[in-house]
Amino acid sequence: MTTFTALPAGEPASIAVHPTRKLSPINPNIYSGFTEHMGRCIYGGLYDPANPNAHLIDSHGFRKDVIEAMQQLKVPVVRYPGGNFVATYHWLDGVGPREKRPRRPELAWAGVESNEIGTDEFMEWCEVVGTEPYLALNFGTGTLDEALAWLEYCNSSSDTYYANLRRQNGHDKPYNVKYWALGNECWGPWQVEQMTKEAYTSKAYRWAKALKLLDPTIQLILCGQDGTSSWDFHTLSTCLRPDVHALGGSATSSLIDMHSIHMYTASSDPVKNAIAPRAAERAIEICAGLIDLARIENGVLPSVPRQLICFDEWNVWDPSRAIGSEGAEEKYTLSDALAVAIWLNVFIRQSKYVGMANIAQSVNVISPLMTTETGLIKQTTWWPLLLFCKYMKGWTVATHVSCDVYEGPTEPAWLKGVGEVGWLDVSAAVDEEGWVSMCVVNAHLNEAQEMEVEGLSVKDGLVEVHEIGGKAWDVSNADGTQRVGIEERKWDAKGKFKFPAFSITMLRWKT
Ligand code: AHR
Repeated sequence: MTTFTALPAGEPASIAVHPTRKLSPINPNIYSGFTEHMGRCIYGGLYDPANPNAHLIDSHGFRKDVIEAMQQLKVPVVRYPGGNFVATYHWLDGVGPREKRPRRPELAWAGVESNEIGTDEFMEWCEVVGTEPYLALNFGTGTLDEALAWLEYCNSSSDTYYANLRRQNGHDKPYNVKYWALGNECWGPWQVEQMTKEAYTSKAYRWAKALKLLDPTIQLILCGQDGTSSWDFHTLSTCLRPDVHALGGSATSSLIDMHSIHMYTASSDPVKNAIAPRAAERAIEICAGLIDLARIENGVLPSVPRQLICFDEWNVWDPSRAIGSEGAEEKYTLSDALAVAIWLNVFIRQSKYVGMANIAQSVNVISPLMTTETGLIKQTTWWPLLLFCKYMKGWTVATHVSCDVYEGPTEPAWLKGVGEVGWLDVSAAVDEEGWVSMCVVNAHLNEAQEMEVEGLSVKDGLVEVHEIGGKAWDVSNADGTQRVGIEERKWDAKGKFKFPAFSITMLRWKT
């Protein structure tokens, strides 16, 4: 958590960090990914067997450079197969001999699905990467029987039909998929089966019971909206209840383990764009309040762990600029890199409430990573993501910022009306070894901020400085030239530190 004092314009800014005040553990799953059958994410991203540069492709047909990038981030969980795609996906189409798999019209992104990649191939990819799968269920054209069959196929070690089908397909051991989503954006008019909140909750609750009866070890994720809506209120207040019939009378578990919310931010104005993710912070706070309200009103036992937020789609995306049915390939700028750093600052500050967060998406589609026939481009947004994945671990620590505030309009417009947005956006963490990492985003386009950092103390040694900036707010790496990256140096921690205009700085020191 970071507390804030708004200063009148022109007064000197300051930051105080308190590394001994550990506030809440940071769930490593906030650095999770998402791969959807959409554009070039799966075909041409994860899987590229026809690429003429054979050295880029492994024996499964997977891109080695994408695998290495995922490993560099140590991505803990990857959501699959959608997204909107899942609303017409029949998982049985994607298992068994490849030559027998049907080609199907794909309704979410107006394409054709070859089913060359399905459950077993995705599990293989997860194993190679060293990540855990998170599967989303088809709440559009899918049935509960189909969902139960998929769960049995993935997780059962019994001598039953779908577990045996998995064995027959060459996979003796169950995959033990822990995370399952009860649909995706079922509230959206773009869904094949857009639902009312009442229809969704009655279906989700029925499915949740059956799924937990089959495998009580799984975690079920309820389909929320953005955390601030009446859909979120209704689904939470209806589904978080002390109903233990499917749970063997357990007083320490519940049918619903997490509540999913999605948000994409963007603006053509560089500052509005950079600060827009602050809306996600308020959304998390509101949603956490709705979770508590549902628990209180419904009398959920305190022994049942508090349901957390699964922010399973987040990123910078303007769908009118990077159109979904055309592959949604965003060309990210320095401003977008600042936005991603603020997104990640939000997850660190709100670590108490966030059980998982998944950048949407992991490759090619609105992604920091872009494949070409000859290699991999790391967009501007890759660099803050890498810094956070490497260093922002352990516990969120108390931080206080005093600075001047941004006075202009915001995107979304409501952000300005629900709190002050300081020019500096800060979060800090301390890890197991006592390394403190503090990320400071200065969103001011042309004013650097110089100050002493209270609480920053190094006995011997130096402070590591990792800085991300660029010549202009709109520079990008998308053509393969790296104009935005990380510059590293050391600082002796004496005197004031200058945070450059429109930059991201991570300071690291050992306590
Ligand atoms: O990530 C792209 C799309 O955005 C997803 O398919 C959908 O869930 C969201 O609207």
